[in-house]
Amino acid sequence: MVEIKKGLEDVYVKETEITYIDGQLGRLYYRGYSIFDLAEFSSFEETSYLLLYGTLPTKNELEDYSNKLRKYRTIPDNLETFLKSLPTNLNPMDVLRTSVSYLGMLERGNDPDTQIRIIASIPTIIAYYHRITDGLEPVEPSEELGHAENFLYMLKGKRPTKEEANALDKALILHMDHEMNASTFAAIVVASTLSDLYSALVAGIAALKGPLHGGANYEALKMFMEVGDPNKAEEYVIERLKAGKRIMGFGHRIYRTYDPRARVLKNIAREITKNTQYETLYEIAERIEQAAIKLLSGKGIYPNVDFYSGIVFYALGFRPEFFPTLFASARVVGWIAQVNEYLKENRIIRPKALYKGEVGKPYKPIDER
Ligand code: COA
Repeated sequence: MVEIKKGLEDVYVKETEITYIDGQLGRLYYRGYSIFDLAEFSSFEETSYLLLYGTLPTKNELEDYSNKLRKYRTIPDNLETFLKSLPTNLNPMDVLRTSVSYLGMLERGNDPDTQIRIIASIPTIIAYYHRITDGLEPVEPSEELGHAENFLYMLKGKRPTKEEANALDKALILHMDHEMNASTFAAIVVASTLSDLYSALVAGIAALKGPLHGGANYEALKMFMEVGDPNKAEEYVIERLKAGKRIMGFGHRIYRTYDPRARVLKNIAREITKNTQYETLYEIAERIEQAAIKLLSGKGIYPNVDFYSGIVFYALGFRPEFFPTLFASARVVGWIAQVNEYLKENRIIRPKALYKGEVGKPYKPIDER
């Protein structure tokens, strides 16, 4: 008897010391550190170092690593020319996927800094294309600012406030890794053939693009916009569920309780929208959450990472179609860390398919078929 595990559910492909998810208690740990502490006290630079190298950096290590991240922000001229040559209505995930592939084609490098170079250049690609599609000139990266601060600087052409930079910094930390999800597995499948890192990451981006994976944050935001008024939220939830539709940004294969990332993102969303034009969106989200929890918590369905992240990204000035690229700009760290760990004890990924067709059919010439 062969048991087929659809979706590879409950199949373990490696041991890991990178990320631990406690789906019952709603806890998430990177290298043993709680995501709550990392979001509160750490930075993109520090947490990405932790994921990549296994320990929190010392002051010197952090300085050295941060300097490299700053130095590698600039993208090659021909990639900039390529981005400027593109139509302005493309899916930003297609642009990011092709740009990372483009970099791989140009660099073909596998020196020790390759991974830092990729992490550093992804925000530049995203911000450049965002500005190009807005009819604006790209803003060159600054070598003085932190990772999240520079990302927003390149997007807006001016230094963000401390609160804005912190909001993006924390949101990126929360998206950095999530154990063996579809995009991480896709990256590992490619890496296991001993292909290059760029190719593995292109596979990760390709998998993240799907609406079942990286696209739900946009869908949740669309829902809030559709409701339009906090007082209509409860009725909307009831009607939507009655119609057999799902509440976007709710439910998770592993979390049977409140997703810890959503807890932190909710606080960020509340703070960043306070006294702004986005405050109503936040209120609508909160009222949808209350109504949906009443009806769905019995099934273990609560807000996931995508419920509040869209509001945060939107309030920071990103257009909704760019949200999945922001997810990718953070998750690339996890993809690299997981690929590196897998390659230490590499075995090419080669599952099986159970053949159910016939065998031994006689070959018929084409005019006899
Ligand atoms: N809204 C309403 N009901 C939901 C729901 C949601 N967001 N998510 C799951 N359910 C219900 C299903 O209808 C099903 O109900 P039933 O048993 O009465 O038929 C039950 O919960 C189990 O759903 P299932 O699709 O089997 O759960 P899953 O673990 O395979 O799905 C998701 C996980 C994330 C795909 C699912 O929760 C979902 O589609 N969420 C919305 C999209 C989203 O936010 N994706 C981002 C994930 S990080």
